Amino acid sequence: MAYRIAPSILSADFARLGEEIQSVIQAGADWIHFDVMDNHFVPNLTFGAMVCRALKPYAGETPIDVHLMVEPVDEMIAAFADAGANIISFHPEASRHIDRSLSLIHEKNIQAALALNPATPLNILENVMDKLDMILLMSVNPGFGGQKFIPAMRDKIRRLKKICDNYEHATGRHIAIEVDGGVNANNISDLVADGAEIFVAGSAVFGQNDYVAAINALKQGCLKG
Ligand code: DX5
Ligand code: ZN
Repeated sequence: MAYRIAPSILSADFARLGEEIQSVIQAGADWIHFDVMDNHFVPNLTFGAMVCRALKPYAGETPIDVHLMVEPVDEMIAAFADAGANIISFHPEASRHIDRSLSLIHEKNIQAALALNPATPLNILENVMDKLDMILLMSVNPGFGGQKFIPAMRDKIRRLKKICDNYEHATGRHIAIEVDGGVNANNISDLVADGAEIFVAGSAVFGQNDYVAAINALKQGCLKG
């Protein structure tokens, strides 16, 4: 299994975002996670597609993983795809037509994912599995970095892993599970054991002084899972 660490720039120094992205990539980041908040779908406000476009050259070949916490989503899908996103996740509650929004992402020739809040049930995935490249499971309520991992989400990861395994068995198509919120070097091995493959880490990377040590600790944790 190829585990991936996706540092979230939500916890980076906003006055030096380009440099911060280069630093975590040098330190071993696999993806860069962009938390896009609109003070409507979530009670916080971050950045839009213009900032993504400005930062794209700093990410180079490293994939930009855009997590839209905005409502509505369709216009932002197009804007972020054109700004250099490689994968876009949105929350099903934020789209009137989930299937259409997923298609809009694929029409831009990039990967599509749904992001599920802690209380959002897995059955919302049932009719769109064929359009998903990844599923983002929130393990905190979206809106802020630095929150505590919600323990009940471990069982949700395990249940989702079974669904994805059954789907892969039937179709040959692998759908990766990304976990977002409260991931750190102490709990990451448990999450690997539960079936997650991609790990967003905000405070566990940008909140540390030594990014190399922080990312290594997360990668070491993955190997113990
Ligand atoms: C929360 C965001 C997360 C957040 C994670 O709404 O989606 O990506 O940045 O931060 P940590 O890793 O500090 O919980
Ligand atoms: Zn996120």
